[in-house]
Amino acid sequence: MIGKPEDLLKGFVQLSSLPVIYTKINEAINDPQSSMKDISDIISDDPGLTSRLLQLVNSAFYGFPSRVETVSRALFIVGTRQIRDLALATSIMNVFEGIPEALVSMESFWRHSVACGLAAKILATYRRCEMNVERFFAAGIIHDIGRLVIYKKIPETAQAMILRCKNHREPLFSVERETIGFDHSELGRRLMQSWNLPPSLEEVVACHHSPQEARRYPVEAAVIHIADIIVHAMELGNSGQQYIPPMDEKAWQLIGIPTSALSPALDQLEREVGDVVQSLFGKA
Ligand SMILES: [Fe+2]
Ligand SMILES: [Fe+2]
Repeated sequence: MIGKPEDLLKGFVQLSSLPVIYTKINEAINDPQSSMKDISDIISDDPGLTSRLLQLVNSAFYGFPSRVETVSRALFIVGTRQIRDLALATSIMNVFEGIPEALVSMESFWRHSVACGLAAKILATYRRCEMNVERFFAAGIIHDIGRLVIYKKIPETAQAMILRCKNHREPLFSVERETIGFDHSELGRRLMQSWNLPPSLEEVVACHHSPQEARRYPVEAAVIHIADIIVHAMELGNSGQQYIPPMDEKAWQLIGIPTSALSPALDQLEREVGDVVQSLFGKA
């Protein structure tokens, strides 16, 4: 038993570098003195991020009629807040390189995460009055991030937990709670707090398996909850959890989307997931 999430986060050096670019973009967005060019310059300073963003913006999900060639054009047509959230999602993926492949392949883990982000974003487009669907994409990409900390810090325990989940058909989050005293969603919450990410992301990550426990953002948590279940059911990647996780009975009611939207949303996810995954990894 580990006891506290902080014990696993201690001494994790990569974790301190993540939010720099996000924080810089955020500060520029909130600074009335700064211009679109300032934001574009911040992003353009990071060539890896720039190319991922442009590939993503040119992927099937956006379906723009002509190619978006520059960051400033992407900012103009997609929106600064949306680009900030895309930047967060894509830069997070760099932080967790080097997870032991024997546990869960990283490719499979990120396919699960990106597919969940895409599913959440597609579901969110059916919500009336939704202004920024990219935040759902970002939240979906990072929802299981606590699991990566577990894989990196205690790989042998992680292996035993995954095996138990497989052999006994138990949800992996329950096995985590019993084995180490907390689960990956709680660990994710602490990580979000230490990165000073918005409270909405923190709560969504914390409550993606129990959206009814979310105090301020139950709708957002429920969208990620359902997206997670959808990508498990469609077997798009894997985060270590071997079976479809249990569904919260109030979740569908919470998200406020007509049931008739489910079938076209699933079709869209199936059509676009390969292209979006490829734009982020270079592999479909
Ligand atoms: Fe999870
Ligand atoms: Fe998940």
